[in-house]
Amino acid sequence: MFVFTQHPSIANQFIAELRDVSVQQDRLRFRRNLERLGELMAYEISKTLPYHNVNVATPLGVAKTQLPRQQPVLATILRAGLPFHQGFTNFFDQAENAFAGAYRGYALGSNDEFEIAMDYISSPDLSGKTLILSDPMLATGRSLEKVYHALLRYGIPAQTHIAAVLASPEGIAYVQERLPQCHLWLGAIDDHLNDHFYIVPGLGDAGDLAFGQKV
Ligand code: URA
Repeated sequence: MFVFTQHPSIANQFIAELRDVSVQQDRLRFRRNLERLGELMAYEISKTLPYHNVNVATPLGVAKTQLPRQQPVLATILRAGLPFHQGFTNFFDQAENAFAGAYRGYALGSNDEFEIAMDYISSPDLSGKTLILSDPMLATGRSLEKVYHALLRYGIPAQTHIAAVLASPEGIAYVQERLPQCHLWLGAIDDHLNDHFYIVPGLGDAGDLAFGQKV
């Protein structure tokens, strides 16, 4: 498991701005900070990908380098995942993409009992590829699990990386137990989940902060 905040870096500033009530209401900045964290995480994950030797013709000669053997498939969960996902696409610019619409469907009259509802999914063939599944908030881990299993209908990836900005200890334990084959990449690990399964201290509702409140 990789966690940005294990070593202080500029990622701390982006995460602090996402959390800070005096900054996070600026939607453009909120989305841009998620995007910047997606870029930083894409860079970290890129260090684990397979590379092959390549000769690049310059105007003056030939430069030897190593380039990724294959672009990963970038998957995210609508809608909160979109700005974070954008950061990954900025770096893996030729990657194929997968999207799932998954959300908490609350039992009538309750705001602490829910099932994960999924009503949209699109994906390229995943067989033998590297899959990066991103979701800014790893709270319970249930939507990530549901989306991951739904994606397996499109083929079995060679490896899967799950990326989140903030994670709860409960969510991490859930994902590690249910999806032990997936590598976890996190911005920060927070204290706990509250009664409504929100991450504390967290940042609030990532989808609402990025795109406005839904009714
Ligand atoms: N989704 C959010 O946006 N925030 C949380 O704290 C948990 C899930």
